Amino acid sequence: MVKKIGLVMMALLLIVLSACSSSGSSDSSKKKTIVMGTSADYPPFESVDTANGNKIVGFDLDLAKAIAKELGYKLEVKNQDFNGLVAALGSKKVDFVMAGMVDTPDRRKQVDFSKTYYQSFQVILTRKATNIKTMEDLKNKKVGVQLGTTQETLAKKVSKTIPMKIQTWDKLNEMVEAMRAGKLDAIVTVDTVAYGYTSKDKTFQQFKAVVDGKTQYDPISAAFPKNSKLTAKFDKALKKLEENGTKDKLVTKWIKNQ
Ligand code: ARG
Repeated sequence: MVKKIGLVMMALLLIVLSACSSSGSSDSSKKKTIVMGTSADYPPFESVDTANGNKIVGFDLDLAKAIAKELGYKLEVKNQDFNGLVAALGSKKVDFVMAGMVDTPDRRKQVDFSKTYYQSFQVILTRKATNIKTMEDLKNKKVGVQLGTTQETLAKKVSKTIPMKIQTWDKLNEMVEAMRAGKLDAIVTVDTVAYGYTSKDKTFQQFKAVVDGKTQYDPISAAFPKNSKLTAKFDKALKKLEENGTKDKLVTKWIKNQ
């Protein structure tokens, strides 16, 4: 009798165990999902591939996918304007943000950041036909910046000494089209983004923005809600992808070869 009960218990245990393992990572439809917020107007970091069913593509996307895979999560992407991304983290609408976002002390008051995964510096993107070569040349010019970005902060700071007509836009790609149409003289953005536009479109030419006499690299990182448990896991996976060469491959694919 005791033996029989033991056997029944064993059988039950086995059933329970096998049920547990089948809900694990082997069945991808049951994988836990993490939601990434981004602003897909910023190639090569993220943009909408209009030729390909409006899929969101880019360096951030591929890196996020690789990290999610490493951690056993399914990745879902939410696209919105850059200016609302920090708030989306605050209200937990997204689990993390990758949007070519610079890790700044100001943003750190509201969110946590991963370790830096790329560096960029600010440049002026302008039409070749203009004679803009330095920040000083922006005097009285129509200068576009994306709302809520470090470029908006920079342009507003510089305009205290070099007055310019600053326009803020929600989407960078739309701002570039406005400049192409002559509605703007220049855009303050970052090298990585400017090179993409200048290499594909020979009518544009980029210039380094000389700020306080030095070119300053800004750290680009993923952002998380304060005290999120995901941050440390993300960093660990990122470290692995840096060590095994995956990140370098993505840098070559998206940034070096653009
Ligand atoms: N690097 C700038 C910042 O952190 C701009 C980033 C804009 N990103 C985007 N996906 N539109 O403020």
